[in-house]
Amino acid sequence: MLFEPISIAGIDLKNRIVRSATFEKRADDDGFVTESLIDLYVELSKGGAGLIITGNALVHVTGRSAPQMLCIHNDFYTAKLKRLAEAVHRNGGKVMIQLVHGGRQCFPAHIGMERPIAPSEVYDRSTRITPRAMTDAEIWEIIEAFGYAARRAMDAGFDGIQIHGAHGYLVSEFLSPHTNRRDDYWGGDEQRRFHFLEEVYRAMKKEVRDDYPISIKMNADDFVEGGLRPEEGLRIAKRLEYLNIGAIEVSGGMYESGMKTVRPNISDVEQEAYFREVSGLFKRELNTPIIIVGGIRSKAVAEDILQNNHADLIAISRPLIREPDLPDKFRDGKERADCISCNGCMRFRKIDVVKCTRLGKSS
Ligand SMILES: Cc1cc2nc3c(=O)[nH]c(=O)nc-3n(C[C@H](O)[C@H](O)[C@H](O)COP(=O)(O)O)c2cc1C
Repeated sequence: MLFEPISIAGIDLKNRIVRSATFEKRADDDGFVTESLIDLYVELSKGGAGLIITGNALVHVTGRSAPQMLCIHNDFYTAKLKRLAEAVHRNGGKVMIQLVHGGRQCFPAHIGMERPIAPSEVYDRSTRITPRAMTDAEIWEIIEAFGYAARRAMDAGFDGIQIHGAHGYLVSEFLSPHTNRRDDYWGGDEQRRFHFLEEVYRAMKKEVRDDYPISIKMNADDFVEGGLRPEEGLRIAKRLEYLNIGAIEVSGGMYESGMKTVRPNISDVEQEAYFREVSGLFKRELNTPIIIVGGIRSKAVAEDILQNNHADLIAISRPLIREPDLPDKFRDGKERADCISCNGCMRFRKIDVVKCTRLGKSS
């Protein structure tokens, strides 16, 4: 099934393999697309993935979570983003852009030495930062920024958008009872915690054509005390389905939860696909296409997930850093990715661009 075509949110894909959003550290200091980034996307699109999702792109200057990340918070980014989308299309690929605001997980050094903003002032044990609670006006400004970014994404020719609603960034912070302690329109109970995402979605819909694909990556589980659990995650997903979201990628974890999002040292099939259970739950309960991510390393596991209806698509991140042509290799008989999940690719401060730091050539 892995190499059977599928259509999600109106996009026809040649197979079920998705390059999960992966920050590349290859934009320039101002967040513009570079030749190095284009070269990588050419490689990825030639490598056979049915869908590529870009590294997270910034919708508002207050939400920068890393240096050299893609930016889409101003019209002057559109021309170069267009070159990126065109490069993928020229090589037979499809590409969605992931839109993000980093919220409380931004470091002051990346946001003009300001305190990061968030739904509430909840201390982050991992960054040792207490963010500042957003005012109502600030919340609406960021919602609008997501909307404008969506229009730029469409103007630049991306096949669709993925909202970054996972991993403890701003959208996920509003959804999570751990990070959202407000008692107003934006928080207090489950329905109100959903309002921010709902308004972001509506702002985007207002800016793009009716059938423009909008999807989301969301946490099914925050893996922190008092955080989102799969039962509530599922109810959020049902609300999104009601809004007609195009696809849902199921993930989990935030900075504070440790290495739950990007688990290290996956060495056998038992450790693979660590969000399979929640992905299966979402798949059973929803009609929206479900994308599974997290530790999928072998073709047999990917096939098994699809055969057992635990997801519709298989997203992969780290293995494609080492082998951008892994999808074609799978098609041609390779059984297992070379990636050993050592997480060397995540030592963002030590490496100039995101790359595999393990020595030796891939097979
Ligand atoms: C270097 C690196 C950068 C990442 N950047 C993003 C990102 O921009 N957006 C996102 O949603 N997830 C990001 N992730 C998480 C991956 O998309 C994925 O959820 C996670 O790595 C688990 O999948 P894997 O086992 O196939 O790597 C990143 C992961 C890595 C290793």
